[in-house]
Amino acid sequence: MALDAAILLAAGGGTRMKTRIPKPLFTLAGKPFIIRIMSAVDHLHPRIMSVVTRYGKEQVEAVALRAFPDAVMVHQDAHPGTGRAVQCALASLEERINQLDPEQNGSILIAATDMPLLNTATLMTLLEAHDHSDDVATVLTTHLDNPYGYGRIVRAADQSVACIVEEKDATDAQRQITEVNTSVYVFKTSVLKAAIRNLNSHNAQNEFYLTDAMEFARQYGHVGACAAPDSLAVEGVNDRIQLMNLAKAYNRRICEYWMREGVTIWDPESTWIDDEVRLGHDVELLPNTFLRGRTVIGEGSLIGPDVELDTMIVGQNAHIHRALMQQSTVGACAEVGPFSYMRPGCDLGAWAKQGTYVEMKKSTIGDNTKVPHLSYIGDCTIGDHSNIGGGTITANYDGVHKNKTIIGSNVHVGVDNMFVAPVEIADGVTTGAGAVIRHYVHRGSLAYSENTQHEVHNWHPKAQ
Ligand code: UD1
Ligand code: MG
Repeated sequence: MALDAAILLAAGGGTRMKTRIPKPLFTLAGKPFIIRIMSAVDHLHPRIMSVVTRYGKEQVEAVALRAFPDAVMVHQDAHPGTGRAVQCALASLEERINQLDPEQNGSILIAATDMPLLNTATLMTLLEAHDHSDDVATVLTTHLDNPYGYGRIVRAADQSVACIVEEKDATDAQRQITEVNTSVYVFKTSVLKAAIRNLNSHNAQNEFYLTDAMEFARQYGHVGACAAPDSLAVEGVNDRIQLMNLAKAYNRRICEYWMREGVTIWDPESTWIDDEVRLGHDVELLPNTFLRGRTVIGEGSLIGPDVELDTMIVGQNAHIHRALMQQSTVGACAEVGPFSYMRPGCDLGAWAKQGTYVEMKKSTIGDNTKVPHLSYIGDCTIGDHSNIGGGTITANYDGVHKNKTIIGSNVHVGVDNMFVAPVEIADGVTTGAGAVIRHYVHRGSLAYSENTQHEVHNWHPKAQ
Protein backbone atom coordinates (compact mmCIF):
# COMPACT_ATOMS: atom_id res chain seq x y z
CA MET A 1 0.00 0.00 0.00
CA ALA A 2 1.33 3.42 -0.90
CA LEU A 3 2.37 5.71 1.91
CA ASP A 4 0.57 8.96 1.12
CA ALA A 5 2.34 10.87 3.83
CA ALA A 6 4.45 10.64 6.93
CA ILE A 7 3.57 13.07 9.70
CA LEU A 8 6.34 13.57 12.22
CA LEU A 9 5.32 15.21 15.47
CA ALA A 10 7.90 17.72 16.63
CA ALA A 11 5.85 20.56 18.10
CA GLY A 12 5.88 19.57 21.77
CA GLY A 13 7.46 21.76 24.41
CA GLY A 14 9.75 19.04 25.75
CA THR A 15 8.73 20.29 29.22
CA ARG A 16 10.34 17.45 31.10
CA MET A 17 13.74 18.12 29.49
CA LYS A 18 13.75 21.58 31.19
CA THR A 19 15.61 23.11 28.30
CA ARG A 20 15.76 25.99 25.88
CA ILE A 21 16.77 23.56 23.11
CA PRO A 22 13.79 22.08 21.27
CA LYS A 23 13.66 18.36 22.07
CA PRO A 24 13.90 17.24 18.39
CA LEU A 25 17.32 18.92 18.26
CA PHE A 26 18.80 16.91 21.11
CA THR A 27 21.40 14.53 19.74
CA LEU A 28 22.14 10.87 20.21
CA ALA A 29 25.38 9.32 18.90
CA GLY A 30 26.09 12.57 17.11
CA LYS A 31 22.83 13.21 15.25
CA PRO A 32 19.74 15.27 16.16
CA PHE A 33 16.64 13.19 16.93
CA ILE A 34 14.71 14.82 14.10
CA ILE A 35 17.34 13.89 11.51
CA ARG A 36 17.55 10.31 12.76
CA ILE A 37 13.80 9.88 12.41
CA MET A 38 13.53 11.68 9.08
CA SER A 39 16.29 9.44 7.69
CA ALA A 40 14.51 6.31 8.92
CA VAL A 41 11.22 7.47 7.39
CA ASP A 42 12.80 8.66 4.15
CA HIS A 43 13.76 5.07 3.28
CA LEU A 44 10.04 4.23 3.15
CA HIS A 45 9.60 6.82 0.36
CA PRO A 46 6.45 8.52 1.61
CA ARG A 47 4.98 10.76 -1.08
CA ILE A 48 4.97 13.61 1.43
CA MET A 49 7.21 13.86 4.47
CA SER A 50 5.90 16.47 6.87
CA VAL A 51 7.11 17.74 10.21
CA VAL A 52 4.77 19.47 12.66
CA THR A 53 6.52 22.21 14.59
CA ARG A 54 5.71 24.92 17.09
CA TYR A 55 8.13 25.07 20.01
CA GLY A 56 11.51 26.22 18.69
CA LYS A 57 9.94 26.20 15.24
CA GLU A 58 12.62 28.16 13.35
CA GLN A 59 15.47 26.08 14.72
CA VAL A 60 13.77 22.74 14.15
CA GLU A 61 12.69 23.66 10.63
CA ALA A 62 16.13 24.91 9.68
CA VAL A 63 17.77 21.65 10.74
CA ALA A 64 15.08 19.50 9.10
CA LEU A 65 15.11 21.40 5.81
CA ARG A 66 18.89 21.46 5.57
CA ALA A 67 18.91 17.67 5.47
CA PHE A 68 15.56 17.15 3.67
CA PRO A 69 14.75 20.21 1.54
CA ASP A 70 11.58 18.60 0.13
CA ALA A 71 10.02 17.99 3.52
CA VAL A 72 6.85 19.99 4.26
CA MET A 73 6.83 22.01 7.47
CA VAL A 74 3.47 22.33 9.21
CA HIS A 75 2.67 24.80 11.96
CA GLN A 76 0.74 23.62 15.02
CA ASP A 77 -1.56 26.29 16.46
CA ALA A 78 -1.89 27.12 20.15
CA HIS A 79 -4.06 24.11 21.00
CA PRO A 80 -1.86 21.49 22.64
CA GLY A 81 -1.65 17.76 22.11
CA THR A 82 -0.47 15.08 19.71
CA GLY A 83 -3.98 14.90 18.22
CA ARG A 84 -4.01 18.61 17.54
CA ALA A 85 -0.65 18.26 15.80
CA VAL A 86 -2.16 15.72 13.40
CA GLN A 87 -5.28 17.86 12.88
CA CYS A 88 -3.04 20.76 11.86
CA ALA A 89 -0.99 18.51 9.58
CA LEU A 90 -4.02 17.10 7.79
CA ALA A 91 -5.56 20.56 7.33
CA SER A 92 -2.35 21.82 5.85
CA LEU A 93 -1.65 18.78 3.66
CA GLU A 94 -5.22 18.17 2.53
CA GLU A 95 -4.86 19.55 -0.97
CA ARG A 96 -1.61 17.75 -1.66
CA ILE A 97 -2.98 14.44 -0.38
CA ASN A 98 -6.16 14.84 -2.46
CA GLN A 99 -4.10 15.49 -5.56
CA LEU A 100 -1.82 12.51 -4.98
CA ASP A 101 -4.50 10.10 -3.83
CA PRO A 102 -8.03 11.04 -4.94
CA GLU A 103 -9.33 7.64 -3.76
CA GLN A 104 -7.78 8.11 -0.30
CA ASN A 105 -6.79 4.48 -0.50
CA GLY A 106 -3.28 4.86 0.77
CA SER A 107 -2.09 5.19 4.31
CA ILE A 108 -0.44 7.74 6.54
CA LEU A 109 2.39 7.04 8.94
CA ILE A 110 2.54 9.11 12.12
CA ALA A 111 5.51 9.11 14.47
CA ALA A 112 6.66 11.14 17.44
CA THR A 113 10.20 12.46 17.13
CA ASP A 114 11.34 11.70 20.65
CA MET A 115 12.37 8.12 19.84
CA PRO A 116 15.85 8.75 18.50
CA LEU A 117 16.55 5.10 17.66
CA LEU A 118 13.44 4.51 15.60
CA ASN A 119 14.75 2.83 12.46
CA THR A 120 13.54 1.82 9.02
CA ALA A 121 13.40 -1.90 9.89
CA THR A 122 11.02 -1.21 12.77
CA LEU A 123 8.84 1.02 10.61
CA MET A 124 8.80 -1.64 7.87
CA THR A 125 7.57 -4.21 10.40
CA LEU A 126 4.67 -1.92 11.26
CA LEU A 127 3.81 -1.14 7.62
CA GLU A 128 3.90 -4.82 6.67
CA ALA A 129 1.73 -5.79 9.62
CA HIS A 130 -0.72 -3.10 8.59
CA ASP A 131 -0.69 -4.12 4.93
CA HIS A 132 -1.15 -7.81 5.69
CA SER A 133 -4.13 -7.21 7.98
CA ASP A 134 -7.53 -5.66 7.49
CA ASP A 135 -6.63 -2.96 10.00
CA VAL A 136 -7.84 0.55 9.34
CA ALA A 137 -5.27 1.65 11.89
CA THR A 138 -2.31 -0.14 13.46
CA VAL A 139 -0.25 1.06 16.39
CA LEU A 140 3.31 0.02 17.10
CA THR A 141 3.59 -1.25 20.66
CA THR A 142 6.16 -2.65 23.01
CA HIS A 143 6.14 -4.42 26.36
CA LEU A 144 7.96 -2.70 29.19
CA ASP A 145 8.80 -4.02 32.66
CA ASN A 146 8.22 -0.50 33.89
CA PRO A 147 5.52 1.07 31.70
CA TYR A 148 5.24 4.20 33.87
CA GLY A 149 4.45 7.33 31.86
CA TYR A 150 3.44 5.58 28.65
CA GLY A 151 -0.03 5.22 27.15
CA ARG A 152 -1.35 1.69 27.84
CA ILE A 153 -2.85 -0.49 25.13
CA VAL A 154 -6.28 -1.69 26.21
CA ARG A 155 -7.29 -4.76 24.23
CA ALA A 156 -10.88 -5.74 23.41
CA ALA A 157 -12.10 -9.32 23.79
CA ASP A 158 -11.20 -10.04 20.14
CA GLN A 159 -7.65 -8.78 20.82
CA SER A 160 -8.15 -5.69 18.69
CA VAL A 161 -7.12 -2.37 20.24
CA ALA A 162 -10.06 -0.98 22.20
CA CYS A 163 -8.35 2.25 23.22
CA ILE A 164 -5.11 3.73 24.50
CA VAL A 165 -5.17 5.21 27.98
CA GLU A 166 -2.60 7.74 29.15
CA GLU A 167 -0.88 7.21 32.50
CA LYS A 168 -2.63 10.22 34.01
CA ASP A 169 -6.08 9.05 32.87
CA ALA A 170 -5.64 5.36 33.61
CA THR A 171 -7.36 3.37 36.33
CA ASP A 172 -5.20 1.32 38.69
CA ALA A 173 -6.09 -1.81 36.73
CA GLN A 174 -5.09 -0.18 33.44
CA ARG A 175 -1.77 0.92 34.94
CA GLN A 176 -0.92 -2.75 35.39
CA ILE A 177 -0.89 -3.20 31.60
CA THR A 178 2.65 -3.51 30.33
CA GLU A 179 1.91 -3.21 26.61
CA VAL A 180 2.45 0.45 25.73
CA ASN A 181 1.96 2.86 22.87
CA THR A 182 5.21 3.83 21.15
CA SER A 183 3.60 6.82 19.38
CA VAL A 184 4.08 5.30 15.94
CA TYR A 185 0.93 4.55 13.95
CA VAL A 186 -0.24 3.85 10.47
CA PHE A 187 -3.79 4.79 9.49
CA LYS A 188 -5.73 4.31 6.31
CA THR A 189 -5.80 7.87 4.97
CA SER A 190 -9.59 8.15 4.77
CA VAL A 191 -9.99 6.73 8.27
CA LEU A 192 -7.45 9.10 9.80
CA LYS A 193 -9.26 12.04 8.26
CA ALA A 194 -12.56 10.95 9.78
CA ALA A 195 -11.23 9.79 13.16
CA ILE A 196 -9.17 12.90 13.84
CA ARG A 197 -12.16 15.23 13.50
CA ASN A 198 -13.84 14.03 16.68
CA LEU A 199 -11.09 14.62 19.20
CA ASN A 200 -11.74 16.58 22.35
CA SER A 201 -9.58 17.62 25.27
CA HIS A 202 -11.63 16.16 28.10
CA ASN A 203 -8.75 14.47 29.85
CA ALA A 204 -6.28 14.95 32.66
CA GLN A 205 -3.94 17.04 30.51
CA ASN A 206 -6.59 19.10 28.67
CA GLU A 207 -4.94 18.14 25.41
CA PHE A 208 -6.13 16.71 22.12
CA TYR A 209 -4.79 13.17 22.30
CA LEU A 210 -3.91 11.42 19.07
CA THR A 211 -4.42 8.17 20.96
CA ASP A 212 -8.18 8.85 21.01
CA ALA A 213 -8.21 8.66 17.21
CA MET A 214 -7.46 4.93 17.53
CA GLU A 215 -10.70 4.44 19.46
CA PHE A 216 -12.67 6.50 16.92
CA ALA A 217 -11.11 4.49 14.09
CA ARG A 218 -12.95 1.39 15.37
CA GLN A 219 -16.09 2.81 13.78
CA TYR A 220 -14.51 2.13 10.39
CA GLY A 221 -13.01 -1.30 10.91
CA HIS A 222 -10.47 -3.35 12.85
CA VAL A 223 -7.83 -1.50 14.84
CA GLY A 224 -4.72 -3.55 15.47
CA ALA A 225 -1.34 -3.48 17.18
CA CYS A 226 2.05 -4.66 16.08
CA ALA A 227 4.88 -5.36 18.51
CA ALA A 228 8.18 -3.65 17.80
CA PRO A 229 10.91 -6.25 17.27
CA ASP A 230 13.53 -4.16 19.08
CA SER A 231 12.44 -2.32 22.21
CA LEU A 232 15.44 0.04 22.13
CA ALA A 233 14.25 1.36 18.76
CA VAL A 234 11.00 2.63 20.26
CA GLU A 235 12.20 3.94 23.57
CA GLY A 236 11.03 7.50 24.12
CA VAL A 237 13.05 10.33 25.58
CA ASN A 238 11.07 12.62 27.83
CA ASP A 239 13.73 13.59 30.32
CA ARG A 240 17.50 13.55 30.60
CA ILE A 241 17.57 10.34 32.61
CA GLN A 242 15.87 8.52 29.74
CA LEU A 243 18.21 10.23 27.28
CA MET A 244 21.33 9.07 29.09
CA ASN A 245 20.00 5.55 29.66
CA LEU A 246 19.24 5.26 25.97
CA ALA A 247 22.55 6.82 24.92
CA LYS A 248 24.40 4.32 27.11
CA ALA A 249 22.46 1.33 25.85
CA TYR A 250 22.97 2.36 22.23
CA ASN A 251 26.63 3.13 22.74
CA ARG A 252 27.09 -0.30 24.28
CA ARG A 253 25.63 -1.77 21.08
CA ILE A 254 27.96 0.26 18.91
CA CYS A 255 30.98 -0.79 20.99
CA GLU A 256 29.93 -4.44 20.83
CA TYR A 257 29.52 -4.15 17.06
CA TRP A 258 33.07 -2.84 16.70
CA MET A 259 34.49 -5.43 19.10
CA ARG A 260 32.97 -8.12 16.87
CA GLU A 261 34.62 -6.34 13.93
CA GLY A 262 38.06 -6.76 15.46
CA VAL A 263 38.47 -3.60 17.54
CA THR A 264 39.77 -3.81 21.10
CA ILE A 265 37.82 -1.53 23.45
CA TRP A 266 39.27 -1.57 26.94
CA ASP A 267 36.39 0.20 28.61
CA PRO A 268 33.13 0.43 26.62
CA GLU A 269 31.60 2.37 29.52
CA SER A 270 33.90 5.33 28.88
CA THR A 271 34.29 4.95 25.12
CA TRP A 272 31.70 6.82 23.08
CA ILE A 273 31.40 6.13 19.37
CA ASP A 274 29.03 7.99 17.03
CA ASP A 275 27.27 5.79 14.57
CA GLU A 276 28.97 7.10 11.42
CA VAL A 277 32.45 6.31 12.75
CA ARG A 278 34.41 3.62 10.86
CA LEU A 279 37.20 1.58 12.47
CA GLY A 280 39.77 -0.79 10.94
CA HIS A 281 40.78 -4.18 12.33
CA ASP A 282 43.08 -4.16 15.35
CA VAL A 283 42.27 -0.60 16.26
CA GLU A 284 42.70 -0.35 20.02
CA LEU A 285 40.66 2.15 22.00
CA LEU A 286 41.78 3.00 25.53
CA PRO A 287 39.46 4.47 28.18
CA ASN A 288 37.87 7.91 27.88
CA THR A 289 37.86 8.00 24.11
CA PHE A 290 35.20 9.95 22.19
CA LEU A 291 34.93 9.31 18.47
CA ARG A 292 32.56 11.77 16.88
CA GLY A 293 31.05 12.56 13.50
CA ARG A 294 32.47 10.78 10.47
CA THR A 295 35.73 9.80 12.06
CA VAL A 296 37.61 7.01 10.27
CA ILE A 297 40.52 5.17 11.90
CA GLY A 298 42.87 2.88 9.98
CA GLU A 299 43.95 -0.62 10.98
CA GLY A 300 46.14 -1.09 14.01
CA SER A 301 45.92 2.46 15.35
CA LEU A 302 46.08 2.97 19.10
CA ILE A 303 43.74 5.71 20.36
CA GLY A 304 43.46 6.92 23.95
CA PRO A 305 43.33 7.29 26.80
CA ASP A 306 41.56 10.69 27.02
CA VAL A 307 41.12 11.37 23.33
CA GLU A 308 38.35 13.22 21.49
CA LEU A 309 38.36 12.93 17.69
CA ASP A 310 35.72 14.82 15.74
CA THR A 311 35.41 14.03 12.04
CA MET A 312 39.03 12.90 11.76
CA ILE A 313 40.62 10.63 9.17
CA VAL A 314 43.41 8.65 10.82
CA GLY A 315 45.73 6.32 8.88
CA GLN A 316 46.99 2.90 9.89
CA ASN A 317 49.11 2.27 12.98
CA ALA A 318 48.87 5.83 14.23
CA HIS A 319 49.15 6.50 17.94
CA ILE A 320 47.06 9.24 19.52
CA HIS A 321 46.95 9.76 23.25
CA ARG A 322 45.47 12.57 25.33
CA ALA A 323 44.41 14.81 22.46
CA LEU A 324 41.53 16.83 21.08
CA MET A 325 41.50 16.73 17.26
CA GLN A 326 38.95 18.15 14.86
CA GLN A 327 38.22 17.86 11.12
CA SER A 328 41.73 16.95 10.07
CA THR A 329 43.79 14.10 8.68
CA VAL A 330 46.52 12.10 10.37
CA GLY A 331 48.86 9.91 8.28
CA ALA A 332 49.91 6.32 8.89
CA CYS A 333 52.21 5.69 11.85
CA ALA A 334 51.93 9.31 13.00
CA GLU A 335 52.17 10.05 16.69
CA VAL A 336 50.07 12.60 18.57
CA GLY A 337 50.08 13.63 22.20
CA PRO A 338 50.03 13.69 25.05
CA PHE A 339 48.18 16.99 25.53
CA SER A 340 47.82 18.01 21.88
CA TYR A 341 45.16 20.12 20.23
CA MET A 342 44.57 19.87 16.50
CA ARG A 343 42.03 22.35 15.18
CA PRO A 344 40.21 22.00 11.84
CA GLY A 345 42.05 21.92 8.52
CA CYS A 346 45.27 20.10 9.44
CA ASP A 347 47.03 17.32 7.60
CA LEU A 348 49.70 15.53 9.60
CA GLY A 349 51.91 13.34 7.38
CA ALA A 350 52.92 9.71 7.75
CA TRP A 351 55.39 9.04 10.59
CA ALA A 352 54.98 12.68 11.64
CA LYS A 353 54.61 13.86 15.22
CA GLN A 354 52.51 16.41 17.05
CA GLY A 355 53.91 16.18 20.53
CA THR A 356 53.26 17.45 24.02
CA TYR A 357 51.43 20.76 24.40
CA VAL A 358 51.36 21.42 20.68
CA GLU A 359 48.44 23.26 19.08
CA MET A 360 47.95 23.16 15.31
CA LYS A 361 45.45 24.90 13.05
CA LYS A 362 45.02 24.80 9.25
CA SER A 363 48.50 23.40 8.79
CA THR A 364 50.06 20.74 6.63
CA ILE A 365 52.91 18.83 8.21
CA GLY A 366 54.99 16.65 5.86
CA ASP A 367 55.95 13.00 6.27
CA ASN A 368 58.43 12.29 9.05
CA THR A 369 58.29 15.87 10.28
CA LYS A 370 58.19 16.33 14.04
CA VAL A 371 56.75 19.14 16.14
CA PRO A 372 57.53 17.55 19.48
CA HIS A 373 57.03 20.13 22.24
CA LEU A 374 55.18 23.28 23.35
CA SER A 375 54.45 24.90 19.99
CA TYR A 376 51.72 26.74 18.10
CA ILE A 377 51.64 25.96 14.39
CA GLY A 378 48.90 27.87 12.57
CA ASP A 379 48.32 28.54 8.83
CA CYS A 380 51.58 26.77 8.14
CA THR A 381 53.00 24.31 5.66
CA ILE A 382 56.03 22.27 6.61
CA GLY A 383 57.80 19.87 4.21
CA ASP A 384 59.10 16.37 4.94
CA HIS A 385 61.81 15.30 7.40
CA SER A 386 61.89 18.62 9.25
CA ASN A 387 62.18 19.10 12.98
CA ILE A 388 60.64 22.02 14.82
CA GLY A 389 62.32 22.95 18.09
CA GLY A 390 60.37 23.19 21.32
CA GLY A 391 58.55 26.44 22.00
CA THR A 392 58.24 27.47 18.35
CA ILE A 393 55.38 29.82 17.50
CA THR A 394 54.04 30.85 14.12
CA ALA A 395 52.89 34.44 14.59
CA ASN A 396 50.16 34.09 11.99
CA TYR A 397 47.90 36.97 12.97
CA ASP A 398 48.89 40.61 12.56
CA GLY A 399 45.67 41.82 14.12
CA VAL A 400 43.90 42.06 10.77
CA HIS A 401 44.91 39.14 8.55
CA LYS A 402 45.86 35.52 9.08
CA ASN A 403 49.19 35.01 7.29
CA LYS A 404 50.98 31.87 6.12
CA THR A 405 54.28 30.40 7.20
CA ILE A 406 56.03 28.06 4.78
CA ILE A 407 58.83 25.87 6.04
CA GLY A 408 60.65 23.54 3.61
CA SER A 409 61.83 19.94 3.89
CA ASN A 410 64.87 18.82 5.91
CA VAL A 411 64.68 21.98 7.99
CA HIS A 412 65.99 22.12 11.55
CA VAL A 413 64.28 24.82 13.53
CA GLY A 414 66.02 25.64 16.81
CA VAL A 415 64.15 25.93 20.08
CA ASP A 416 61.97 28.93 20.89
CA ASN A 417 61.74 30.26 17.33
CA MET A 418 59.17 32.75 16.17
CA PHE A 419 57.98 32.87 12.56
CA VAL A 420 56.45 36.26 11.84
CA ALA A 421 54.10 35.47 8.96
CA PRO A 422 53.90 35.87 6.06
CA VAL A 423 57.31 34.27 5.86
CA GLU A 424 59.02 31.40 4.09
CA ILE A 425 62.16 29.36 4.69
CA ALA A 426 63.49 27.05 2.01
CA ASP A 427 64.60 23.40 2.19
CA GLY A 428 67.60 22.41 4.25
CA VAL A 429 67.63 25.53 6.45
CA THR A 430 68.83 25.47 10.03
CA THR A 431 67.74 28.17 12.48
CA GLY A 432 69.40 29.10 15.74
CA ALA A 433 67.82 28.96 19.19
CA GLY A 434 65.48 31.87 19.90
CA ALA A 435 65.50 33.11 16.28
CA VAL A 436 62.82 35.53 15.16
CA ILE A 437 62.36 34.82 11.46
CA ARG A 438 60.77 37.71 9.54
CA HIS A 439 62.27 37.29 6.07
CA TYR A 440 62.83 34.63 3.46
CA VAL A 441 65.68 32.22 4.28
CA HIS A 442 67.51 30.64 1.33
CA ARG A 443 68.04 26.95 0.76
CA GLY A 444 70.74 25.39 2.92
CA SER A 445 71.36 28.54 5.04
CA LEU A 446 71.71 28.99 8.76
CA ALA A 447 69.46 31.74 10.08
CA TYR A 448 69.79 33.17 13.57
CA SER A 449 68.89 36.46 15.17
CA GLU A 450 71.00 38.44 17.59
CA ASN A 451 70.06 38.03 21.15
CA THR A 452 72.96 39.49 23.06
CA GLN A 453 73.75 38.03 26.42
CA HIS A 454 74.87 40.62 28.98
CA GLU A 455 76.50 39.93 32.28
CA VAL A 456 76.83 42.28 35.27
CA HIS A 457 79.38 41.02 37.75
CA ASN A 458 78.89 41.01 41.51
CA TRP A 459 75.24 41.88 41.28
CA HIS A 460 73.65 42.13 44.73
CA PRO A 461 70.06 43.28 44.57
CA LYS A 462 69.20 45.37 47.61
CA ALA A 463 65.90 45.26 49.41
CA GLN A 464 64.13 48.61 48.91
C1 UD1 B 1 2.86 10.05 23.90
C2 UD1 B 1 1.56 9.25 23.81
C3 UD1 B 1 1.68 8.02 24.71
C4 UD1 B 1 2.88 7.20 24.31
C5 UD1 B 1 4.15 8.05 24.31
C6 UD1 B 1 5.28 7.24 23.71
C7 UD1 B 1 -0.28 10.81 23.41
C8 UD1 B 1 -1.41 11.51 24.01
N1 UD1 B 1 0.45 10.06 24.24
O1 UD1 B 1 3.00 10.51 25.22
O2 UD1 B 1 0.49 7.24 24.59
O3 UD1 B 1 3.01 6.08 25.17
O4 UD1 B 1 3.96 9.22 23.51
O5 UD1 B 1 6.48 7.93 23.82
O6 UD1 B 1 -0.08 10.90 22.22
N2 UD1 B 1 3.87 16.80 20.15
C9 UD1 B 1 3.40 17.71 19.22
N3 UD1 B 1 2.47 18.63 19.61
C10 UD1 B 1 1.98 18.67 20.88
C11 UD1 B 1 2.46 17.72 21.82
C12 UD1 B 1 3.39 16.79 21.43
O7 UD1 B 1 3.84 17.70 18.06
O8 UD1 B 1 1.15 19.52 21.15
C13 UD1 B 1 4.90 15.84 19.74
C14 UD1 B 1 6.16 15.95 20.60
O9 UD1 B 1 7.06 16.86 20.00
C15 UD1 B 1 6.67 14.51 20.59
C16 UD1 B 1 5.41 13.68 20.43
O10 UD1 B 1 4.41 14.54 19.93
O11 UD1 B 1 7.53 14.24 19.50
C17 UD1 B 1 4.96 13.02 21.73
O12 UD1 B 1 4.75 14.05 22.69
P1 UD1 B 1 5.08 13.81 24.22
O13 UD1 B 1 4.66 15.02 24.96
O14 UD1 B 1 6.43 13.29 24.42
O15 UD1 B 1 4.02 12.65 24.56
P2 UD1 B 1 4.16 11.55 25.67
O16 UD1 B 1 3.74 12.09 26.97
O17 UD1 B 1 5.48 10.90 25.59
MG1 MG C 1 7.23 11.39 24.65
